[in-house]
Amino acid sequence: MLVYLNGEILPHESARIPVDDRGFLFADGIYEVARVYDGRPFRMDAHLARMADGLRAIRLEAPDLDRLAAVAEELLDRNNLRTGGATIYIQVTRGVAPRKHAFPANVTPTVYVAAKPFQDYPAEYFDAGVAAIRVADTRWARCDIKSVALLPNVLANQAAHEAGAFEAIFVRDGVLIEGSHSNLLGVIDGTLVTYPKCNYILGGITRDVVLDLARQLGIPTREGPIHEDRFADVTELFLSGTTTEVMPITRLDGRPVGDGTVGPITRRLQAAYRELTRSAA
Ligand code: PDD
Repeated sequence: MLVYLNGEILPHESARIPVDDRGFLFADGIYEVARVYDGRPFRMDAHLARMADGLRAIRLEAPDLDRLAAVAEELLDRNNLRTGGATIYIQVTRGVAPRKHAFPANVTPTVYVAAKPFQDYPAEYFDAGVAAIRVADTRWARCDIKSVALLPNVLANQAAHEAGAFEAIFVRDGVLIEGSHSNLLGVIDGTLVTYPKCNYILGGITRDVVLDLARQLGIPTREGPIHEDRFADVTELFLSGTTTEVMPITRLDGRPVGDGTVGPITRRLQAAYRELTRSAA
C-alpha cells in the first residue's frame, strides 16, 4: 500500500514521523475518515469541509484540502482501489517541535493521507442488529472537533468489545448522545430522534445523510434528546457512521430495544442509504 506523507507518496511501511510530532506528544491534530464505494469517495466535500472547520477551531493553518482530495484520488488509483470498498484517512497535526504546550513558531504541519481496502461488516449485523452498552461520557466539551485525541472513545469501545457488544453509547446527563465512533438515532412515537448538533457530539456526515433521507421518505424527524429513563418509549435504535453505515441496535445493556428486532423505519433508512451509496457518490 502506498500512502502520502508530507508531500511524498511512499510505501506504508516506509512512512515515519519523528517522535517530536505534536500529534504523538499532544494529540494536537485533526483527522477524517471517508468511505469509498466502487472507487468513488462518498461525500468527500462534506468531510473536507468538516476538516477545515476542525483545523480552524484548533487554529491550525489548513493545508490545501482540495489538493489532499486529489492525493486521495491518486492513492485510490495507485493502490488499485477503484473496485470494491475502501476508506480514505486524512490526518493533519501541528507538526514537529520540541515539547512545549504553546504553539511552536514557523512549523510546517504534518500531513498524512492513506487509502486502504475496507471490508464491510458482516451482513448479519445489518440484518439482525447488534448489541450496545452505555458508558458515562467523560470526554471534553468540544466533541464537534474531530480531534485525534480519542482516548475516551478507545476506552468506551474497548468496554463494548469486552462486553461482547458492537458499540458503546455515551450518556451525558441521562441522555444517550452518540457512540464511540458513530452517531445514535432512535424512533419515539414514530419520529426519528437524534441528539442536536452541538459541542457534545461529532456532527456526522452519515447522520446528515440519514436525516435527509428520512425527510425525503416522509419520516418525521426531531433533533432532541433520547433520555435513558424513557428507554421504554424507544421502539428502534440505530447507529450511523462512515464505516458503521446504518447499523441497527437490538439490545442495549442486555435489554431488547423495542421488540428486539430491527424496526421498519431502520429498515427503510438502511435500504435508502444502501441505494444511495451503491449507486451514485
Ligand atoms: N468516526 N461520532 C464519533 C465520535 C465518530 O468518531 C464518528 C465517526 C461519528 C460518525 O461520523 P461520520 O458519519 O461523519 O463518519 C460520530 C470515524 C468513522 C472513525 O473515527 O473511524
